[in-house]
Amino acid sequence: MCGIIGYKGNKDGNEVVLKGLHSLEYRGYDSWGIASVHENEIKIIKKVGQIGHIKLKDLGFPKSNLALGHTRWATHGGVSEINAHPHLSKNKKIVVVHNGIVENFQELRRFLEEQGFEFISETDSEIFPHLIEYFMEQKINFEGAVRRTLNKIEGSFAIVAINLESKEMVGARHGSPLVAGIGNGEFFLASDVPPFLAYTKKAVYLDDGELTIINKHIKFINIETGKEIKKQHQTIEWDVEQAKKGKYPHFMLKEINEQKDTIKLAAEQPPELIKKVTKMIEDARGVFFVGCGTSYHACVSAAYVFAKISKIHVNVVIASEFSEYEDFLTDKTLVVALSQSGETADLLEAIRTAKKHNCKTFSVVNVVGSSLTRLCDRNIMMNAGPEICVLSTKSYTSQLTILLLLAYSVAGKLGKAKELIDTVSKSVGEIIDTNLKKLKQLATKIKDATDFFLIGRGLAFPSALEGALKIKEISYIHAEGFAGAELKHGTIALIEDGVPVFVLSTPATRHLILSNAMEIKSRGGYIIGIDSEDNDVFDYFIKVPDVGNAEPILWIIPIQIFSYYIALARGCDPDKPRNLAKSVTVK
Ligand code: M6R
Repeated sequence: MCGIIGYKGNKDGNEVVLKGLHSLEYRGYDSWGIASVHENEIKIIKKVGQIGHIKLKDLGFPKSNLALGHTRWATHGGVSEINAHPHLSKNKKIVVVHNGIVENFQELRRFLEEQGFEFISETDSEIFPHLIEYFMEQKINFEGAVRRTLNKIEGSFAIVAINLESKEMVGARHGSPLVAGIGNGEFFLASDVPPFLAYTKKAVYLDDGELTIINKHIKFINIETGKEIKKQHQTIEWDVEQAKKGKYPHFMLKEINEQKDTIKLAAEQPPELIKKVTKMIEDARGVFFVGCGTSYHACVSAAYVFAKISKIHVNVVIASEFSEYEDFLTDKTLVVALSQSGETADLLEAIRTAKKHNCKTFSVVNVVGSSLTRLCDRNIMMNAGPEICVLSTKSYTSQLTILLLLAYSVAGKLGKAKELIDTVSKSVGEIIDTNLKKLKQLATKIKDATDFFLIGRGLAFPSALEGALKIKEISYIHAEGFAGAELKHGTIALIEDGVPVFVLSTPATRHLILSNAMEIKSRGGYIIGIDSEDNDVFDYFIKVPDVGNAEPILWIIPIQIFSYYIALARGCDPDKPRNLAKSVTVK
């Protein structure tokens, strides 16, 4: 869940790496570090906290054409300067940054200590430079020593390593993402493309088990066999401006606003692909939707829209629990993976499980070239552009849009879906623009609440789950989403004077959800209603138009806005909530 970057070329590597880390910070931000490689030494700086406003001059490094960096989300070893990356080998000639987990690190550490290597940090990652040095001491060249090291590792890694003497840079991956950027006489390695978008759009995604070595040229190699691999580059279509905040104070607000366009873009799918995926759903004997976090909530929504619109039952499973269902997987099963990043470890594992049983697979994913796209039989791209804020916003509504499209397509009514999505995307702008100021005031008014509850029935239930996740992950206030009737089976005990409850109401569920709202109000709850029409039970009313089965796309938008403002009102950073990372690449 960390971000890594390496640079070799004719620019100042310190600057490229520093800027690159700013754009990778969404992957982890509890500490950071940069190594700058010079004629006879590797200079390192490491700090606890976000890289935020660090400037080039703060690094205090002379210019260098070779550098690497890391922004960390701690797994092994607490958050400290010592545990921050990069890590150096004993002879200080090999420097490494790592994203992943070395599962057999205790055993390897013991072995290296017996060979006289002294560990400075508590991290599993420090294994890499020492083991590389250990192999190089046996007269094996840098590339060979890296390969031997990686062949000993159990677990996951994306690494960038530099050898001071040969000035070579190596990158390798197994289970964590790594992409090479190929510029004019310069090379980049990074966890994701934004760090090099300003310099080149030519990218080569490494697959698991691959290594790249960069000296004057770049070469790709199979880690196990050492054989060279020919890889094709892809041209990245994302614009560098898309990965910047522009006029917005935070990525979150920018990405909420982008929904004015992204919902429409999500619906612009190649007709042939929609036909093929529709057939996959129709032909399947057993359909599973899998995802994590927000993407899982979109899966829950899938269960409702496929039942309601396509009249088919789909199973919904949290990706990390998917292996429990292995006994039901056959070559007729279809497994659908939902993910913004396409790098979520639990989800990739679920798809590997599906593949083991020869299931058919397709993904709904945002990041082009991500690991998920290379695992699944087919991929529907969300077309949402980079989502940098740790919180999923626009990717969620894009997922919902694509699910709606598919559900109607299975029902043979694709035209209806397009009509609905068109209506929805026209309303998004108005919902955002009319609610920004109002919801800021509401958030400021109730910022000291200690609990939030959200209720919805039918299609609104998954939105209640997602709304609760938005509020709690950004404001650190406890929030829970429920199916409307469920609250009174226990949790209603927590309702007392002033407890805010969002009530997501639809024409179809209104008569029942409003009685649930009444039950809460009678116990002192403060009712925030989201509906197409106002009602006396609401203490506060947020109007969204009635768009039938497309309603889930709209309900979440005011809650995203509310969450953004409550975070600000409480002094929390909306883009980088504590303890979180955008891509959860560890299981
Ligand atoms: O990239 P993914 O959609 O696979 O990520 C899954 C979750 O980690 C993610 O949705 C997470 O819950 C959100 N960032 C929360 O806003």
